[in-house]
Amino acid sequence: MTSQTLREARKYEESSEKMIKKEERPDFHLSSRVGWMNDPNGFSYYKGKYHMFYQYHPYESVWGPMHWGHAVSEDLLHWEYLPAALAPDEIYDRDGCFSGSAIELPDGRQLLMYTGVLRQREANGGFSDIQTQCLAVGDGVDYEKYEMNPVLDEKDLPKGASRKDFRDPKMWRKKDGSYCCVVGNRPADGSGQILLYTSPDGFKWSFKKVLAANCNRIGKMWECPDFFELDGQWILLTSPQDMLPAGFEYHNGNGTLCLMGEFDEETDTFTERHNQSIDYGIDFYAPQTVVTPDGRRVMIGWMQNWDTCNSSTAERPWFGQMSLPRELSVKNGRLYQKPIRELEALRSSKVEHQDVTFSGNITLDGVKGRRVDMELEIRPDDEENVYRKFAVRFAQNDQFYTALSFHPGDSVMKIDRKFSGSRRALIHQRRALVNSENGKLKLRIILDRFSAEVFVNDGEQVITATLYTDQAADGISFLADGCVNMNVVKYDLSGDESRQ
Ligand code: FRU
Repeated sequence: MTSQTLREARKYEESSEKMIKKEERPDFHLSSRVGWMNDPNGFSYYKGKYHMFYQYHPYESVWGPMHWGHAVSEDLLHWEYLPAALAPDEIYDRDGCFSGSAIELPDGRQLLMYTGVLRQREANGGFSDIQTQCLAVGDGVDYEKYEMNPVLDEKDLPKGASRKDFRDPKMWRKKDGSYCCVVGNRPADGSGQILLYTSPDGFKWSFKKVLAANCNRIGKMWECPDFFELDGQWILLTSPQDMLPAGFEYHNGNGTLCLMGEFDEETDTFTERHNQSIDYGIDFYAPQTVVTPDGRRVMIGWMQNWDTCNSSTAERPWFGQMSLPRELSVKNGRLYQKPIRELEALRSSKVEHQDVTFSGNITLDGVKGRRVDMELEIRPDDEENVYRKFAVRFAQNDQFYTALSFHPGDSVMKIDRKFSGSRRALIHQRRALVNSENGKLKLRIILDRFSAEVFVNDGEQVITATLYTDQAADGISFLADGCVNMNVVKYDLSGDESRQ
């Protein structure tokens, strides 16, 4: 039975969506149907389509009582909206249906697991949240909340664990047919930990183990975990709040963390060997992964940063977009990301400039646009005399641009969107230490209407930023202090099926 709250949300989104023109949205990135979007939820492949749910407040372009928005896709680039899947309409989720995940049950139904939030008044007059894990079962469009909800609550927490910060379950099915999930939590030390739960059937859950403890090393509370095996390693993705920068890692306040190591499935013991940021730009958070039918592990994150959300205004009917889907792999002990290969089907109008030697400022014939896939290979013109700085500017006109610059001297790459048209004192820059031998560098820059994603050295690092520059600013230019030699291959990208 659909509740009144969900019916209203569905009615509202259906009529309000019509007021948003296609050109006012990203072309091949999923954006909120209307109103506010944050984390990806329930990212899954079900009945022949990818399903993406998301944290959703349809009524305003700011965070509010969380619903689950819903969209489906065959290639993860063209999305079709479905009616909102969940609304905060039960006593245990009255104040929000927070993040969670989805899997297919053996009987063909889809199981959603999400965090129910109930805000309670405390004796001292303040409020505090109770977060529990809840289930809903459905057919890919309509979902029924489970009558035994919540299935995990404070009784299922280890000693000292907070019931206020207990959220974002990510489930998977093991080879033996049983189920596991990881949940973010805050232990007594005030930092974060990831809890592991198991279930024989997806409905009866019990606490197994603290899978990973932060011990106040990297940020505080750890949100939105995901855990999987990839290329012989085990990967724990999570999004820590309140991080302190360490060298060139973890600059984002609330940002992303990849822990890599071994997992003993007999004893459920995860041994961490390596940690790194997932994205080195400004806007990336709370990623989730899915396995494609042909076996690729693909990740999508919320392409935004909690500290820069104030840029949403009442005039903008939508706020929040998802990142490009990224194929993951492990190479040289690091997490690599590449734009999903389906993106290549959106390419047209190839422009190629090989062996361009330049210093100062140049533009190149045919190299411009706001929906672009551009590969750059950069090297010093003279190996003995390495250039001092290389920069590429995009979304550029007389007034605006966003710049990506690189100094071989310290191997630091910077993205700077100060002149992208932002009228707010938000974070506009981020620096990353990248690998470059003697000024050699490979970049792949993907622009959609409101974002730039930069894949450095074949996906060794990714730098992501949103930008809301006027679409008329479609220039691209290159700058060298010293002498650079460069190859450029550039395509237009379009999600519009009718383009050919
Ligand atoms: C992360 C997060 C999650 C929570 C959701 C609420 O961005 O804080 O931990 O479930 O957003 O919208």
